[in-house]
Amino acid sequence: MASAPETKTIETETATPNSSFIYEILYSPVNLLLTVIIVVLVYKIFRSKFGKVYVEPPTPELPKIRKDMTVAELRQYDGTQTDGRVLVAVNGWIFDVTRGRRFYGPGGPYAVFGGKDASRGLATFSVTSTDKEYDDLSDLNSMQMESVKEWEAQFREKYDLVGRLLKPGEEPTNYSDEEPEETDNSTSSPDDKKDQ
Ligand code: HEM
Repeated sequence: MASAPETKTIETETATPNSSFIYEILYSPVNLLLTVIIVVLVYKIFRSKFGKVYVEPPTPELPKIRKDMTVAELRQYDGTQTDGRVLVAVNGWIFDVTRGRRFYGPGGPYAVFGGKDASRGLATFSVTSTDKEYDDLSDLNSMQMESVKEWEAQFREKYDLVGRLLKPGEEPTNYSDEEPEETDNSTSSPDDKKDQ
């Protein structure tokens, strides 16, 4: 009589072939979740090591341009031309942002700024641009103007300066005598009107 439970235990263990390793994994939701995570991670490692990874083609070096432009002239440089050049104006200065065409070029998150004066959008933290002929920004408050200047400083750090954004009737500067590397590094509006 005393040996009966022992026999029963042995019977139970041997009579459950389903308690295999796989069954145990699939039976517990936690184990199942962990298994899924491991499979996904292994898949990602293999894909990045052996799979085809898309690498953005390097932006071809374009000849530097040094030129003042009107809003209408600037508009052509939105990255849709064959050379893919993208220019953006900030606080009255035009920058060559072709290096950042993944931001400002066609399809980029800030494509609305490509070939445009981005000052107002940057100042108001809104990804929009106007088709105004010239935006003098005179209605922006001092905080917004501070923000425009900070953005200008960032653009000066990162991108090549092309020239000034011309107001209607304003004459372009002749840069032909300028040293190739010489650029104005002061953070200020071309007419310094907003610097007070
Ligand atoms: C949820 C909102 C936003 C997120 C998550 C976001 C995210 C980012 C990130 C991650 C970058 C850096 C990209 C990089 O250097 O690789 C960036 C850059 C930038 N963002 Fe945004 N952004 C947001 C909203 C905005 C808005 C509203 C504006 C403009 C009004 C803006 C303008 C810019 C500009 C101009 C850059 C610099 C690109 C460059 O380096 O030339 N962003 N943003």
